[in-house]
Amino acid sequence: MSDDKIKDALRMMPYGFYAFTTKDGDDVNAMVVNWVSQMSYAPRLLAVGIQKSCYSRGLLAVGGGFGLNLFLQADSDAIMGITSGRAKKPEKMDAADYTAAPETGVPVLANSAAYIECKVTQIVDVGGDHDIIVGEAINADVMKEAAPPDVLSLTELGWSYAG
Ligand SMILES: Cc1cc2nc3c(=O)[nH]c(=O)nc-3n(C[C@H](O)[C@H](O)[C@H](O)COP(=O)(O)O)c2cc1C
Repeated sequence: MSDDKIKDALRMMPYGFYAFTTKDGDDVNAMVVNWVSQMSYAPRLLAVGIQKSCYSRGLLAVGGGFGLNLFLQADSDAIMGITSGRAKKPEKMDAADYTAAPETGVPVLANSAAYIECKVTQIVDVGGDHDIIVGEAINADVMKEAAPPDVLSLTELGWSYAG
């Protein structure tokens, strides 16, 4: 515990851990994210908090697409190659193993358990260092069916992106 109780409380929130994938023309990218949630049933909207300064943010535009890739805990190695940003690791996607999602063309990483393709419906500047990217789920596939406790999350990695 620290003397910053807001930070301590925010770090107690459990989070998933996903690959967020984007595309603009021939340029594709994948980054790790945990600030993700479904926001509506009808239509099925997802919201993702994305850093204003990251490379992926530059590839996003309203009407464009993004993908969320879920992994089994047993396949955590499959996401580790994309934990660095493009600025630090420009060759990140050259080394990545992926296919193109059918509707949007965004990367689906090899060994992911499921993916959800979304069409960007809104990009909301909430006045902070991250924007909220809202997307409508337009396609998905489940390659390795699993219950939530078996899906990769920050809890078992012991990592944190909050506070
Ligand atoms: C555990 C963890 C969780 C993260 N979650 C998010 C997130 O939800 N949103 C975000 O914008 N960045 C998140 N990041 C940071 C990005 O992954 C990082 O800024 C990355 O370098 C961006 O990649 P890019 O520049 O290639 O787009 C997280 C990083 C880690 C290690």
